[in-house]
Amino acid sequence: MMKSTEIFSARESKEMEDILSRYEASASAILPLLHYVQSIQGHLSEEALTFVAEFIGVPHVRTFEVATYYTMLFTEPVGRHLVQVCRNLSCHVNGAENVLEALKKELGVDVGKTSDDGLFTLVEVECIGACDHAPAVMIDEDLHRKVSEDSVNRILGSYREKV
Ligand code: FES
Repeated sequence: MMKSTEIFSARESKEMEDILSRYEASASAILPLLHYVQSIQGHLSEEALTFVAEFIGVPHVRTFEVATYYTMLFTEPVGRHLVQVCRNLSCHVNGAENVLEALKKELGVDVGKTSDDGLFTLVEVECIGACDHAPAVMIDEDLHRKVSEDSVNRILGSYREKV
């Protein structure tokens, strides 16, 4: 088995041990561990998925299944900013499709792709809990409410300035 210190710093390894210790059954730590590893590495590489599986003692295929099931986990590199457009009912009936089209046009990408400058990855997600402010878009940890086609440019601009 690979040691955590072979691919993670001592601080990161300690954090992973801490996460694992919060769960009675080590397999229950799979999602928080994958989420943590992704926050460090930007995505979940095959090496990272193999490591986490061995770390918690589950078959390798289990981490691959989880990583490919959840839309917030990525097995391929993503852009610096993750743009998540809600596609559920409230957002859909309030113009999410128009917002998505405006984002695709502005970023020059289709859903699931990363802009040429490497700054933004565009994805569609299920309800993000802001139905009363539909259509809603999450960018990284920021929730944008009542987004319109006209506000897309301004919103993206604020992230471009953060570079
Ligand atoms: S339906 Fe879009 S946030 Fe709930």
